[in-house]
Amino acid sequence: MSEGPLVLGIETSCDETGVGLVRGNTLLADAVASSVDSHVRYGGVVPEVAARAHLEAMVPTMHRALDLAGVRLSDVDALAVTAGPGLAGALLVGTAAAKSYALALDRPLYGVNHLAAHVAVDTLQHGDLPTPLVVLLVSGGHTSLLLVDDIACRVRTLGATLDDAAGEAFDKVARLLGLPYPGGPVIDRIAAGGDPRAVAFPRGMTGPRDSAYDFSFSGLKTAVARWVEAAERAGTAIPIADVAASFQEAVADVLTRKAMRACREYDVADLLIGGGVAANSRLRALATQRCGEAGIRLRIPRPALCTDNGAMVAALGARLLAAGVPPSALDFATDPGMPVEQLTVGRY
Ligand code: KG4
Ligand code: ZN
Repeated sequence: MSEGPLVLGIETSCDETGVGLVRGNTLLADAVASSVDSHVRYGGVVPEVAARAHLEAMVPTMHRALDLAGVRLSDVDALAVTAGPGLAGALLVGTAAAKSYALALDRPLYGVNHLAAHVAVDTLQHGDLPTPLVVLLVSGGHTSLLLVDDIACRVRTLGATLDDAAGEAFDKVARLLGLPYPGGPVIDRIAAGGDPRAVAFPRGMTGPRDSAYDFSFSGLKTAVARWVEAAERAGTAIPIADVAASFQEAVADVLTRKAMRACREYDVADLLIGGGVAANSRLRALATQRCGEAGIRLRIPRPALCTDNGAMVAALGARLLAAGVPPSALDFATDPGMPVEQLTVGRY
């Protein structure tokens, strides 16, 4: 039997409309409506299409979450909503809805950071977060290494991508290979039938003079493009599974290498991997192997919790509430470029 306040979370930063309900560390409901099918033919998320889809999905998704949890709106003790980072129009739909519910119910509302929510979601599966904690955050828009002292109060950035995010690299390489959007899950599936050693793609930012914790994936993307072009010029069939597996191996290798180094140099015994790319099977396997060898405890939420959802926002809201962090004033603004160190917006 779970205890604590009932927290409702709303997520609309990209193409998933998510509503989650959480009590303490317990997940009660996680309803997600995705507009991904509307974006496939464009090869990426179209912001205005995503915002319109959120508008249509918001109320039905809310009702589905309440039904799943077996609670009523009036049972909700506090709300949390993604205030940034994300697509400007999409964020506005979620925050407008959350403000309306908060006002009508007269309950506190937290405008929260989407990236921190990708970290907090792990409490729903593995319980309270250890501290300090190194976090490898890998999503469609962000790739960062973080040192987390307390997900309700203090997050420090150790490094970040200088160009493409890891998920963006998956999406762009999938496109190069003629595979549909979003590329991550498709490459993951196709790579299972390929040889990860078939092509030695470059490991960006791993030279002795490179920043230890920053990332770069644009060189890798270009290397895949050149390799595919060369094969086309030579008139040879492109071994898509081998290319996908070799690309995926390069990404997983660099991500885990840098995460392990951060744990070692900051003397931290716990690593968490979060964000949509944390659903990747090879990244999960390689991280498990390397953490096992180094004696580091690894936490990765199950794949459905890694990709965008409302439960992650509710989970962060529950942490903020438990830590006594003041809620946001209802006139808070969204912040499409919200930095990861900023956990909430518009405090009272
Ligand atoms: O966290 P997320 O759902 O949305 C953002 O906050 O960006 O991440 C979406 C990204 C997309 O780029 C998608 O291709 C990638 O996560 N992704 C994956 C996998 N599942 C989703 N990348 C690699 N392997 C996967 N299995
Ligand atoms: Zn995300």
